[in-house]
Amino acid sequence: MRYFLRIYGDPVLTKRCEPMNKVGDEVKVISEKMFEIMYANEGIGLAAPQIGVSKRMVVMEVEKDSITLINPEIIWKSDETEVGEEGCLSFPGIFTEIERASKVKVKYIALDGEEKEIEREGISARVLQHEIDHLDGILFIDRISVARRELLRKDLEILKKQYKKRKKVL
Ligand code: NI
Repeated sequence: MRYFLRIYGDPVLTKRCEPMNKVGDEVKVISEKMFEIMYANEGIGLAAPQIGVSKRMVVMEVEKDSITLINPEIIWKSDETEVGEEGCLSFPGIFTEIERASKVKVKYIALDGEEKEIEREGISARVLQHEIDHLDGILFIDRISVARRELLRKDLEILKKQYKKRKKVL
């Protein structure tokens, strides 16, 4: 399979992903590929569907905190929220303010097959919420007000057109 960054308009981005049922070599290969594509595009988080793999897996690296999360689940969110600017590698050039919980606790399977739990705040908490949304086919533009989305409408249409064009060449 050829892995490449999927852009808004690609149907894989709005599908609910399937759980990973075992942590084997394939998972390690996909994780490496995800980090590679994330670094190449200067991202700090990436979900498997963004490289065309409809599986529940996320990678992130915030201030050297580098993690692969398999089947991640948010098990707790703070009531306290924060508004911050967000982008997404599948939406090049689009940034918008989004309200998210300030802190989250996430349960996941690590690459060594162990079940783990982490608690994060600030940017890491934001990245975790954004990436785990991807696994349910939820995009960051689904989390903004109708008014804000209206402001982005033209840019989104341009992205969709670019996706269709690209699809013809591939
Ligand atoms: Ni994203």
